[in-house]
Amino acid sequence: MDKMWAGRFSKETDSGVNAFNSSISFDGRMYRNDIAGSIAHATMLGEAGIISKEDSEAIIAGLQSILADIEVGKLELDMNAEDIHMFIEAELTKRLGSIGKRLHTSRSRNDQVAVDIRLYLRDEIKEIRGLLEKLITTICDTAEKHTDTIMPGYTHLQRAQPITFGHHLMAYAQMLLRDIGRLDDTAKRMNVNPLGSGALAGTTYPIDRFLTTKLLGFTEPMVNSLDGVSDRDFCIELASAISTIMMHLSRFSEEIIMWCSWEFKFIELDDAFATGSSIMPQKKNPDVAELVRGKAARVFGDNMTLLAMMKGLPLAYNKDMQEDKEAIFDAVDNVKLCISTFTPMLATMTVLKDNMRKAAAKGFINATDCADYLVKKGMPFRDAYKITGGLVAECIAKNTTLEELPIECYKEKSGLFDNDLYEAISLEHCVKCRTSYGGPAPESVKKQIGYVRERL
Ligand code: ARG
Repeated sequence: MDKMWAGRFSKETDSGVNAFNSSISFDGRMYRNDIAGSIAHATMLGEAGIISKEDSEAIIAGLQSILADIEVGKLELDMNAEDIHMFIEAELTKRLGSIGKRLHTSRSRNDQVAVDIRLYLRDEIKEIRGLLEKLITTICDTAEKHTDTIMPGYTHLQRAQPITFGHHLMAYAQMLLRDIGRLDDTAKRMNVNPLGSGALAGTTYPIDRFLTTKLLGFTEPMVNSLDGVSDRDFCIELASAISTIMMHLSRFSEEIIMWCSWEFKFIELDDAFATGSSIMPQKKNPDVAELVRGKAARVFGDNMTLLAMMKGLPLAYNKDMQEDKEAIFDAVDNVKLCISTFTPMLATMTVLKDNMRKAAAKGFINATDCADYLVKKGMPFRDAYKITGGLVAECIAKNTTLEELPIECYKEKSGLFDNDLYEAISLEHCVKCRTSYGGPAPESVKKQIGYVRERL
């Protein structure tokens, strides 16, 4: 194939090198963005008088026809091309002859690729954001049904204090809201225009970078041309934001996996979102949640790939940077896949309230409330804590619970105890009284749900 840069070479490129160098198999997905960038560039060239208005219009029409042909499948990407940029320019020249050869005036593939990735990822961020909003809405909808569903809250995976399932779910809504914030921050810093940076040192043509900025919907032109072509911070920022999303989904998945086990049995997944075993007929496995947890690992890997790829690069462009795309595309593809499978899995699961309530009854999760009962009657907390510890030990020895321990046993430890104790340590009461801001009381969780819905 006759290369656009063949001028100074006297030999054909080795076929292995061609294949090694080529990126069209993975950057081909940016064809729309490449064409949008080229249309903005051609418009600007015409407006600035760098090429004639007629040539500019012909180029724009040619690019539009290429786009239309790719969209309907009339034009297939040639996997022998070096990359999507070369492919589209070559196709344009095939269609327009020498007019097509004017498109690349005062532009380099280095600023071109930087524009394309930004435009591509800008759209992807919108999609991920939309998927997160749906997931958060599903969480709110489910939490709303479970503001009274008592379950044990855990620390160290040991039963700790009573909460509700709604409260537990809403913790994830907060994490995912912050994730949306991180995506928004990333989108803001990403949305600047590298076009016009040239190969690295700008250009001698009277280009108008503010015009292409406006045409492409960027907020401003990048201020330094070397930075314009060698910055991939936005990929790293996005991969990091996506990694945090995956970390959250992975924690949530881990809990779902535990809750599905016979040891917990707090939930049951819908048959459509679980899988069986090839040998054990009784099995119903939470494969989806496990895969989400597994995929978090590869996305963290993508993030690390990008950091490591950039750390030793001198300014400005280096071919190493071609490796950015597979890493960030993998992160983007997988986070979208995970959220869109996770959301319906969550929406369709059955919550086994009774099992949660039974688990809450064991493990002395109202011990703090028992100590607080004494404190409210005037005892210093540390003394109350010690007495309650003794009562828990007595319950363990007698194989009973604080609720069932007779009042005489209490009175032996402190004269402050009376029959109203049993009301104070009933789990329903313990949850209802946790009305502190952000706490698990049903009223408080309803407020949390309102807070989250308002921010969506
Ligand atoms: N395919 C290249 C990439 O993805 C495009 C930029 C090539 N620039 C260059 N000077 N070889 O990074």
